[in-house]
Amino acid sequence: MDSKATITVYTKEKKESLGDMFGIFFEDLNHAADGGLYAELVQNRSFEFAPIDNADYHPLTAWEKVERGNAHTEIYVDKEHPLIEKNPHYLVIDIVESGDGAGVMNIGYNSGIPIKKGENYLFSCYARGNSKSALPMSITLALEGKDGRVYAKNEITVSSSEWTQYEATLAPNETDYSGRLVLTTTSKGKLCLDMVSLFPEKTFNNRPNGMREDIAKLLAELKPKFMRFPGGCLVHDGSLNADDRDSMYRWKNTIGSVEQRPSRRSNWNYNQTLGLGYYEYFQFCEDIGAKPIPVLPAGYDPHHQRIVPIEELQPWIDDALDLIEFANGSTSTIWGAKRAELGHPEPFYLEYLGIGNEEVGEPFFERYEYFHKAIKEKYPDIKLINSSGPFAAGSEYERGWKSARENKSDLVDEHYYQSPEWFLANYHRYDEFKKDDPKVFLGEYASWGNTYYNALVEAAFMTGLEKNAHAVGLACYAPMLCNVDYVNWKPDLIWFNNHQVFGTANYYVQQLFMHHQGDYTLKVESNGLEDPGLNDSYQPPGGKILVGDGQTPAHYYDIKIVNKKTGEEKSYRNCLLENEVVELDHIEWENYHLSLKAKKIGGRRGFKIYFGQKCDKNTLFWEIGGWQNQDAVLCSEINGRNACLTQSLFKVETNREYHLELEVKGRHIRTFVDGALINESEDKIPIIEHLYYSASVEDLTGDVIVKVVNVQGKPVKTQIVLDQIEKETITGKIYEMSGYELNDENSFKSPVKIVPKQKDVTGSANKVDYEFPKQSITVFRFHS
Ligand code: AHR
Repeated sequence: MDSKATITVYTKEKKESLGDMFGIFFEDLNHAADGGLYAELVQNRSFEFAPIDNADYHPLTAWEKVERGNAHTEIYVDKEHPLIEKNPHYLVIDIVESGDGAGVMNIGYNSGIPIKKGENYLFSCYARGNSKSALPMSITLALEGKDGRVYAKNEITVSSSEWTQYEATLAPNETDYSGRLVLTTTSKGKLCLDMVSLFPEKTFNNRPNGMREDIAKLLAELKPKFMRFPGGCLVHDGSLNADDRDSMYRWKNTIGSVEQRPSRRSNWNYNQTLGLGYYEYFQFCEDIGAKPIPVLPAGYDPHHQRIVPIEELQPWIDDALDLIEFANGSTSTIWGAKRAELGHPEPFYLEYLGIGNEEVGEPFFERYEYFHKAIKEKYPDIKLINSSGPFAAGSEYERGWKSARENKSDLVDEHYYQSPEWFLANYHRYDEFKKDDPKVFLGEYASWGNTYYNALVEAAFMTGLEKNAHAVGLACYAPMLCNVDYVNWKPDLIWFNNHQVFGTANYYVQQLFMHHQGDYTLKVESNGLEDPGLNDSYQPPGGKILVGDGQTPAHYYDIKIVNKKTGEEKSYRNCLLENEVVELDHIEWENYHLSLKAKKIGGRRGFKIYFGQKCDKNTLFWEIGGWQNQDAVLCSEINGRNACLTQSLFKVETNREYHLELEVKGRHIRTFVDGALINESEDKIPIIEHLYYSASVEDLTGDVIVKVVNVQGKPVKTQIVLDQIEKETITGKIYEMSGYELNDENSFKSPVKIVPKQKDVTGSANKVDYEFPKQSITVFRFHS
């Protein structure tokens, strides 16, 4: 135990502004918007679902025919006389025999439409009778259970053969989370329906077309300083024409009345109604006190290499300029007036704008310059965010930084999803970053998992972000929301189904850092803490060598390994692989050189070489032409969780011979293709620091905040000294997460198993003796 150890906080020595450091990132994936935060309960309300969204979708997805008694009806989707040209499809119900009721039902998302007793539900739709003779048509609206039990009923009367909007309220007398919205009539004839909508009356802040209250509340309770939106890959994956069904995310498509917003394919394999659009995003940011950080596409889709010619870039740049005007312009400007018309004459005070999302490839950087110049010329105060790709290091990462420096971008968006051990090993990542460079916007990061261990490691890493506020401007965990029945990506900060929501352990770490960010970092140092140890996951060098990625037909030959220390040389048999991975050897060497020739014979990917493999969950590998055959990556996998150490662009051609070389010098790894250096990285050892800590001061309260994370499996006793405070006693609060198993998680059953606990703290004079429990996260808030 470090009984004489101290952490000294120099309470009057303000260092760096923490600005807007900790915020959130919203991307519509995992049904985060439709079927998530956006409170609409009807799925496929405008009958626009189609196979372009998802191979299993069709215009009647989530709709079923209803025939009661001897009713007989046909339902189909038409587009001959649409309500809106942009969303042409509508439903036709052709009632031949109405029996006890003929019509349709919507089954909502997840298990159905969540119906709560005591709440009101606002129904609306556009309808028209198809022939005057069948009018008026009385339509019964009902909220029912799966078994047909009726919880709420109301009626509308369709009296026109022109599209007309109808509204009604439904007030259920029971709770059922597997409900259905049922529309039936006992009239005969044809009825056309479009934009069939059901919202809970209670949305977050009672906004019409608003947000689901429970999810929004959880977001608000984070108190984020900013919100990045609406993606992610969602933003830049798509066609270049804004009118295409699968266009890139174009913000002008997302404002105005909801029926006017064109339905769009999302790259996450579902349909976006765009009901949650830019106006709602800005409004929501305002409601939760977060600065908006929109991300715009730059006319380049790196996933499919769709590229706007430079001479056609202006409309894309105009989109950026117009967005700034929409957010900030006076009501006498075109887009400021539009904002006012939508209900918000006051500006939204946009300060930051992201151009591009994890971009790779020269075409992006060529185009970025044009955006940057035009935006800075007109709006010099807008802080522009450049992109450094989806990896923590390598050629595209460096390319992003180069562009940011050349253009004088304010921030650079870094993204990485890595193993917990990588986060520990890279705690000092930003220590050497320069103050006068663009600032880091860590726009997406997470360790793989939602266990307490992940949260603990992220907390440790975040103290490193705070300590390096000279270099790190903004940071947000990603992704944020996940509907448990529609998972595109794990881990996520918040999980929900159609009626429940919970924050993960990671959520509560983010919350601690947001609630207790402070305005300025303070100088802080430790003395007398024991030397750090190695994490349990530390793997000594050596292990198996294997070739093949298990799916790409390829020929690996002329394979040899040389021990660089002893000169020993080994050769191996040629491997003609179909879809297997072949073990070559198990070596315990620390310094060696592997050389081989490889030829891809077919398939979509390229080559893979495993080395230093202890088992298939603990291995290093070099993959050339992996996902989308675009990259060469060096990765380290620990306990089945990957960390990409470095990446370079590389495409493997079929039937071409490549000379591949891998050079291992302890933890230092280099790779070569045909003699050219491709990857170089240090597989850093996940050393555990004695304690991870940072300190800050909050201007408004004068409170001194000290965050301490103990990752070790044993308690650490330390004295906290608040230097330059002269008092008989210091008082404050402690917020602490501790006492959990490392693999504990929150869940629907135990949503708050892992949450910070609060207690008082008192110290004599300016000192507090404290024993940090093993594997704990502690935040002290000392009152001035
Ligand atoms: O957050 C999930 C995805 O991860 C984002 O869309 C993308 O930016 C990143 O690759």
